[in-house]
Amino acid sequence: MESGWVLRALPSRLTGSVSAHLRELLDLLLRWVHLIAGIMWVGNSMLFNWLDRNLEQEEGAPPGFEGRIWMVHSGGFYDVVKKQLAPGELPARLHWFKWQNFTTWASGISLLVVVYYASGGSLLVDPSVRALSLPHAIGIGVGTILGAWVVYDVLCRTLAKAPAAFGLAGFALLFGTAFGLSQVLSGRAAYIHVGVVLGTIMTGNVWMVIVPSQRELVNALQEGRAADPEIGKRAKQRSIHNNYMTFPLLFIMISNHFPSTYGQRLAWVVLAVLTIGGALVRHFMNIRFWYRAWFPMATGTVLASVTALFVLTRPRAPEPTVVLPTAPVSWAEAKAILDQRCVPCHAQTPTDDVWKVPPGGVMFDTPPRAQAAANRIRERVWIQKTMPLANKTQITDAERATLGAWVQQGAIVSP
Ligand code: HEC
Repeated sequence: MESGWVLRALPSRLTGSVSAHLRELLDLLLRWVHLIAGIMWVGNSMLFNWLDRNLEQEEGAPPGFEGRIWMVHSGGFYDVVKKQLAPGELPARLHWFKWQNFTTWASGISLLVVVYYASGGSLLVDPSVRALSLPHAIGIGVGTILGAWVVYDVLCRTLAKAPAAFGLAGFALLFGTAFGLSQVLSGRAAYIHVGVVLGTIMTGNVWMVIVPSQRELVNALQEGRAADPEIGKRAKQRSIHNNYMTFPLLFIMISNHFPSTYGQRLAWVVLAVLTIGGALVRHFMNIRFWYRAWFPMATGTVLASVTALFVLTRPRAPEPTVVLPTAPVSWAEAKAILDQRCVPCHAQTPTDDVWKVPPGGVMFDTPPRAQAAANRIRERVWIQKTMPLANKTQITDAERATLGAWVQQGAIVSP
């Protein structure tokens, strides 16, 4: 009987761990590509921004001349000239910059699917906050991403001449989205979806507005006519938007390392602070070529944002409804909770259906390991309540308090 059970159980256990292993590998590869492509895309766009603002005028320059800059880099001098071309001057080879953006977006969407949608939704919803089926949660995520692009595009067209109104409406919608998502998805998934919304808007801008405007420039030149200035203006507007979105988006990309930001009631306010702070710093960097006080203003923005962040993410006194027990907590009690609620993931060989290697290398399956991680256990379980992951193992508030008390009392273990 015993061997029959083993034989029957083996294939599904094996396929389970093979698919988990594949998921982990895909996660690694996609994240790597995402990072490389993202650096190339954002790096290029920052370089061109910088070039544009540092161009120097020359006396007696020929018509069409817009500026020149000399640079030294990697063992040579670069003489870059920005100019309008006359018909017939179009070079045979013209380099476009669009695939870095596409690769960043495509790898980001694939990551979203692999990490959040294909993992049984364990990172996507927190069942102790809201019972939401996986298809519903995915529907909300995908719907938000597509809907956001449509709304943004309409706003751009209708409020093209009222940048202040556009800015207000844009921020209000963005934070509304962050707030709404944080009510239905896990804090971490809500953040990432806001990031995907921004990334998708930026990619839409590149492919639906900016690249077409560059194509119009080339076509006009080939057909010997003037390029449509409206198309150019629209592209300029979108590329400014993209410029302001980079810093906030880069924070969201690394946000899942910081449970103190996404793992709390005011997660969307934290996101708002960092988004506005990031966009403002970008703004002061943009105007630094003519705005003398840019540095103190940027520094002030950083200080103000960091202060707000410090206050928002400070360890809060645990809610009064659940108080830490004062009675001594034995190692046996703490161990029982760890074994049931944490060790399925945090062990040398996890038994969880998704996590087949201990996440972050953190394990509580032996007394010394549990003791070594005690402060982080208290932080994640009692203070932030961001572990167990999306409360997959359904820990109770009383158990959180018991673990908190165990750490408070010195995290005593007995062999
Ligand atoms: C379903 C799987 C799962 C369960 C169950 C789980 N964790 Fe985690 N844990 C993770 C993942 C994934 C990470 C890495 C991502 C992160 O830090 O959010 C992690 C990271 C951690 C970390 C390391 C990061 C840090 O902040 O120091 C600690 C500590 C932790 N978990 C504690 C616990 C405790 C305590 C429990 C039980 C009450 C628990 N976890 C239950 C999946 C799980």
